[in-house]
Amino acid sequence: MKIGKVSIPSNLLLGPMAGVTDGAFRKICRQFGLEMSFTEMVSAKGLVYGDKGSHELLSIGEEEHPVGVQIFGSDPDFMARAAVILQERIQYEVLDINMGCPTPKIVKNGDGSKLMTDLPGAQSIVDRVVKVSQKPVTVKIRTGWDETTDYLGFAKGMEAAGAQMITVHGRTRDQMYSGKADWEKIRAVKQALKIPVVGNGDIFTLQEALEKKAFSGVDGIMIARGAQGNPWLIREIVTYFATGEMLPPPTSREIYDVIMTHMALIVEEKGEYRGMVEMRKHISWYIKGMKNAALVRNEINRSRNFEEMHRSLVQLLDIG
Ligand SMILES: Cc1cc2nc3c(=O)[nH]c(=O)nc-3n(C[C@H](O)[C@H](O)[C@H](O)COP(=O)(O)O)c2cc1C
Repeated sequence: MKIGKVSIPSNLLLGPMAGVTDGAFRKICRQFGLEMSFTEMVSAKGLVYGDKGSHELLSIGEEEHPVGVQIFGSDPDFMARAAVILQERIQYEVLDINMGCPTPKIVKNGDGSKLMTDLPGAQSIVDRVVKVSQKPVTVKIRTGWDETTDYLGFAKGMEAAGAQMITVHGRTRDQMYSGKADWEKIRAVKQALKIPVVGNGDIFTLQEALEKKAFSGVDGIMIARGAQGNPWLIREIVTYFATGEMLPPPTSREIYDVIMTHMALIVEEKGEYRGMVEMRKHISWYIKGMKNAALVRNEINRSRNFEEMHRSLVQLLDIG
């Protein structure tokens, strides 16, 4: 798959996840063969007003390219200004516009998935951003605000406005994360557009990746929650698509080693205290389904520093 000149031979993307796909996690995923990820969504207004938090979300390592930056907002002027600021300040290859976020805090301002109720407004955002952007502009949508949305018309409108790739999460905003992603609708978008279409929603195993890609005919697939605590899924998918080989699941020792690497990266990025707090959720994902998982989780959540965290992990995962 290609986005503009950016080539992604594995056709696999890591989805943007606020609070999850920070630099540390993106780097871990790249070590497992990922070719392109997206930053957490960043507010266009935050960028324009010089908000420190928004700029912090954009620390991208040298080894992370190609990478996509995702912005959100609904004012075409701010969106275009944000694109210009990004170009001046950081290195990235693709600029993605968030039209899928369902959270009340976002949609109440007309941002995220709310844009799916306003095709002309959404088109003017894409049009304005495309005009100033030297990077390919892509859009991430859902299958509508609710069941009544003309999602095909919306997707075509994004293409007409200049989007060079579109990602479709197969749920409406109404569904939030409930029910199942509708890959029939994703297939319909793929059939209706000329630009690359990426399908997204409920890929948690290699089998699901293969089935959903084959069923929908999409150019690429995006995984998000499936990679939480499981970068091995990325390696499984990339390896299978490249060679047809099926890899065995990781051992406890491998999981432990990756947790340690992840910790080191997150501390480097955010310092020990924040790193430790944020690492708690990642560890609980890494150890999901293992024996002693509940015990380890409790211990980890009680630990006050990395040493204590490390000790509980080693003891309870039975790693010498
Ligand atoms: C914790 C979390 C944060 C997310 N943040 C974003 C975001 O910043 N931008 C975005 O476009 N989608 C975001 N998403 C949606 C995911 O990118 C993806 O579309 C969705 O989770 C469905 O894919 P999955 O079934 O593979 O998880 C987020 C999802 C989760 C679970």
